[in-house]
Amino acid sequence: MYIGKKIIALAHPNIALVKYWGKRQKRGNLPAVGSISITLDTLYSRTKLVLDPSLSGDVFYLNGVPGLENQQIRVQVFLDLFRQRSGRWVYARVDSENNFPTAAGLASSASGFAALAVAANRAFQLKLSPRELSVIARQGSGSAARSIFGGFVEMHAGKNPDGSDAFAEPLLPPEDWPLQVAICITSTSVKAMGSTEGMERSANSSPFYNAWVQASVKDLNEMRQAILIRDFEKLAEISEHSCLKMHGLALSARPGILYWNGTTVELIHHIRRLRRQGIPVFFTIDAGPQVKAICLPEAREQVRQELESFPGVMQLLVTGLGKAARIVEGQS
Ligand code: PMV
Repeated sequence: MYIGKKIIALAHPNIALVKYWGKRQKRGNLPAVGSISITLDTLYSRTKLVLDPSLSGDVFYLNGVPGLENQQIRVQVFLDLFRQRSGRWVYARVDSENNFPTAAGLASSASGFAALAVAANRAFQLKLSPRELSVIARQGSGSAARSIFGGFVEMHAGKNPDGSDAFAEPLLPPEDWPLQVAICITSTSVKAMGSTEGMERSANSSPFYNAWVQASVKDLNEMRQAILIRDFEKLAEISEHSCLKMHGLALSARPGILYWNGTTVELIHHIRRLRRQGIPVFFTIDAGPQVKAICLPEAREQVRQELESFPGVMQLLVTGLGKAARIVEGQS
């Protein structure tokens, strides 16, 4: 165990092309469906961790200020997993910074917990494999399991009650198909409803929930195939289908959950119009109003121009695909 040594880890957020929506078990964030995502480049969480035997609890800072009480608890419960494994009950000072705006509608919990898992693995000297780390990261946030890996990543729903088979694994490295992502920020207000609550309500009250779970296997098989043969049209079609189906599920809950604003809808139309005109681009949307446009590398500048000036788009972040979560300081 590295007492007093500064460990710094970095992890990128990811965006799901085949969406995760619904838990088969709330404890441990065991997903009801598998998912497939792309890990982003340039945007990241950078997490510094120092084990300090003088502490009687973990101390968590987010973007330079003390984390809120619920965030402190989440970090402490998460680090307990490492203390349990190592049998060493030492607490940590954790400083996590995101270089992207919280309002970007990117799960900072995904990159945050992936970076924390990698840092804690090093500090407690557990030497866990990336797959084992994805199982642990999942317990912080379901989508964090995918941020352990770079490029195209698949998360398995698994069946085991202990979650040992609910892990992520890489499908394709980022350089093998360097797609580009333009994140359109359409609102900076706090999202309507968090993903855990949204998923729970959808599972409990949408009449379409069982159909969603059943159809996910087909979506995953087709998406895996599209990625392996680099079929962009297919990738676009399945991604938009999975996204709209997820939002259909949320809309059909009681009461219905609507994550979109007017600009979100206008962007859907616009991006589809661009594709009809021959520009290789499609959209995806998570539990918020921001729209992510994904395109082939050659269309990047055209897509940037089209979306930057689009009415209602407050900010545009453009990035490529990134690498796995990793240690950047405190290697040995
Ligand atoms: O991992 P969570 O609890 O942030 O949930 C992620 C939910 C979506 O972003 C909407 C879909 C996904 O697969 O990332």
